[in-house]
Amino acid sequence: MAKRKLRSTHWFAGEGKDAFNHRSWMKNQGLPHHLFDGRPVIGICNSWSELTPCNAHFRKIAEHVKRGVYEAGGFPLEFPTMSLGETLMRPTTMLFRNLMSMDVEESIRANPLDAVVLLAGCDKTTPAQLMGAASVDLPTLMISGGPMLNGRFRDETIGSGTHVWKFSEMVRAGEMSMADFTAAESCMSRSAGHCMTMGTASTMASMVEALGIGMPGNAAIPAVDSRRYVLAHLAGRRIVEMVKEDLRMSKILTRKAFENAIRVNAAIGGSTNAVPHLLAIAGRVGVPLKLEDFDELGARVPLLVDLMPSGRFLMEDFFYAGGLPAVIRELGDLIHKDALVVNGRTMGENTADAPCWNREVIRTLAKPLRKSAGIAVLRGNLAPDGAVIKPGAAEPHLLRHSGPAIVFRDYNDMAARIDDPALPATKDSILVLQNAGPQGGPGMPEWGQLPIPKKLLQQGVRDMVRISDARMSGTSYGACVLHVAPESFVGGPLALVQDGDRISLDVPGRRLTLEVAEEELSRRRAAWAPRPSIYGRGYGAIYARHIMQANEGCDFDILRDGPPVPEPEIH
Ligand code: FES
Repeated sequence: MAKRKLRSTHWFAGEGKDAFNHRSWMKNQGLPHHLFDGRPVIGICNSWSELTPCNAHFRKIAEHVKRGVYEAGGFPLEFPTMSLGETLMRPTTMLFRNLMSMDVEESIRANPLDAVVLLAGCDKTTPAQLMGAASVDLPTLMISGGPMLNGRFRDETIGSGTHVWKFSEMVRAGEMSMADFTAAESCMSRSAGHCMTMGTASTMASMVEALGIGMPGNAAIPAVDSRRYVLAHLAGRRIVEMVKEDLRMSKILTRKAFENAIRVNAAIGGSTNAVPHLLAIAGRVGVPLKLEDFDELGARVPLLVDLMPSGRFLMEDFFYAGGLPAVIRELGDLIHKDALVVNGRTMGENTADAPCWNREVIRTLAKPLRKSAGIAVLRGNLAPDGAVIKPGAAEPHLLRHSGPAIVFRDYNDMAARIDDPALPATKDSILVLQNAGPQGGPGMPEWGQLPIPKKLLQQGVRDMVRISDARMSGTSYGACVLHVAPESFVGGPLALVQDGDRISLDVPGRRLTLEVAEEELSRRRAAWAPRPSIYGRGYGAIYARHIMQANEGCDFDILRDGPPVPEPEIH
């Protein structure tokens, strides 16, 4: 045991009335006195909720973590926080990511914990927990909940989200019946776990592993595979050692760790949602990371993993093929091998012998699926502070495209007119959605994959250039320019686009240009009036006051900046 006095002893050690109080109430749970003898107290921060079906199996994972903690001589205490269920919460979970991070941060700091195991799965639960825990900076380890088993509809393998978009467009195009569409529901989500495409949840679970804050193998083991529970058990043992080593989050989440994560995200064809989340997590640990890093570090990394939404396979196949360790090994010198991982070894040591069992699913650097497939960062007079696109998810002929804009003022305007036969849309039109950003959405919803107008669908059009200040679901695909900053709600140039304006997208040149004379834009800018905020009170009002733009990770300024919060005084 380290000589260092553990944080929990401020609550539990001693003979006075305060220690009596702290111990006595805990003992009503049947906890024996010897557990308060100064052993490490391990918090298990659980985002379990029946309203977050992706995380609904987490009580069982927590039980396995506890076994490991006890085995290693620690004292586990599980606690709940807010959870963020992607499919049910409205207007969008992203509106509440920072709120959950505050819950996690304050729950950790206010309690007698020496270290934390974070249990996350559904999209925003991962960044929210990492952000909150990073602001406290105890020894911390994350266990992802694991993906669902492959979806299977009749004789077809189907992926979370990806096939919802595909099937719903087939229904709109008259190619699928409503009865078949309904039948597919239970075939898609047929086990515990999060989305099993390389959507945002799988992306963020991969980021956990690539950052080194999760155990090797964390990303891909299916939620219902017994090896997920073995990993939880071993993580429970390991977190106790991390207390003894004082291996805090800030020692893991270094600049090298983020560079590894960005390159891995490119190699796996990960979600664009990783951009604001990694920026926000880096901001909490004080690691300088900027939007351009995603392009400079990741854009030329080859795509090695053939997973939906842009590929063929699913996370279960990825696990059987070798999972993330095989990808990291394949990336070779593109990875900082000396980056530290929570298991106490380096990234290089962990992956040196990682096998690959299926080269269809995980390709080699010599024969990648695509030579360069990371996230491209665009600039130009339409996005002075940047925008992103995932070129690998777009039809190649649209990566250099110029066309007339069709502008939707907001989501409701888009929903009301997108299928109107009178909409003057052709396959060359560029669909523009305004007021869908961090403030305007609010919460920057995943509206960025605007639907293809019905009349074009019926003509066989399956992709168009779409531009918005929204995000896009990680399970989506298409030539969607996202995260335009500054957003239109605060008067960014996106607010000035009008029907018929010519817009030029040049992904190889990294440019996004509104082909309208500056004089005309100035005139429009002078005539532009902001919309009022919809929030007059409560969390929404706090959000509106403190939310930062997409290129800064959409954290709250008061959570990222400012002096450290002092430890609570224990009386
Ligand atoms: Fe929870 Fe996709 S809905 S991970």
